[in-house]
Amino acid sequence: MTCTVLVTGATSGIGRATAARFAAEQAQVFITGRHADTVESTAKELGVHGIVCDATDPGAVAALAARLDGLGSDGNSGSHGKPGSLDVLVNAAGGLPGAQPEGVSPLEAVHAEWQTNLNQNLLGAVLTTTALRDRLAPGSAVISIGSIGAERRGGSYGAAKAALAAWNAALSAELGPHGVTCNVISPGYIEDTNFFHGGLAAERRTALIEETHNKRPGTVADIAETAYFLAGANARHITGQTLHVNGGAYTTR
Ligand SMILES: NC(=O)c1ccc[n+]([C@@H]2O[C@H](COP(=O)([O-])OP(=O)(O)OC[C@H]3O[C@@H](n4cnc5c(N)ncnc54)[C@H](OP(=O)(O)O)[C@@H]3O)[C@@H](O)[C@H]2O)c1
Repeated sequence: MTCTVLVTGATSGIGRATAARFAAEQAQVFITGRHADTVESTAKELGVHGIVCDATDPGAVAALAARLDGLGSDGNSGSHGKPGSLDVLVNAAGGLPGAQPEGVSPLEAVHAEWQTNLNQNLLGAVLTTTALRDRLAPGSAVISIGSIGAERRGGSYGAAKAALAAWNAALSAELGPHGVTCNVISPGYIEDTNFFHGGLAAERRTALIEETHNKRPGTVADIAETAYFLAGANARHITGQTLHVNGGAYTTR
């Protein structure tokens, strides 16, 4: 039977590499993004199914859940045999906010920045997982992409990612008895993504690499391989955790 995987935010960067990793193992993979053109082109390039969905929009997420029932070459029955069932959910959608509104008061600007970060980096994963949790049978995995920013100097972005890790721990306690694992992968600096909107200064990049122990940037493959491991049969006793993948830039001791 086919393993069914949904990766949100998979038109570029970490999500795209993760979708490609599962697709390479003949999984039935669904990807999302907010823009029809990039969703369609990425799905075609990877040989997966694309669905346009803004993870922060409850109506769009509900529609995504409904569409999973009808898509896929085998009717998307997942390895558990139920229509619309999922084996792996990867919440990768997120990132830094783009341009913020102009001509607003300082307090309104702070409100907009925090609201956007909480929506993008916390609520999107919460909404998507809530909409799909009943489709996760024993043996399934929920993997959410956090950030090293949750551990230090993260501001509104880091606070949202820290909340994501706190939510994940509670989710793990809820779904663990049903045989579902729930983990956060917390990357350090990862190259070949659109995360910095093309605006990472050379000095900042050098500093981010310098603070690692292995003196290299992270790659999207570093994260995709970690997600693939967490979804596998050898990781069933790992749940409720935040796995730091950062070359030693942040250590837990
Ligand atoms: N790159 C790093 O150094 C780094 C480090 C730590 C953590 N992270 C985290 O890694 C995750 C993936 O980011 P990335 O680095 O791979 O950046 P990226 O290349 O910008 O990828 C982000 C992906 O998410 C999609 N997306 C954004 N908001 C979305 C939404 N509301 N609903 C659905 N899709 C959405 C984007 O497509 P559209 O814009 O077309 O929707 C894109 O496909 C993020 O959660 C980010 O916070 C990245």
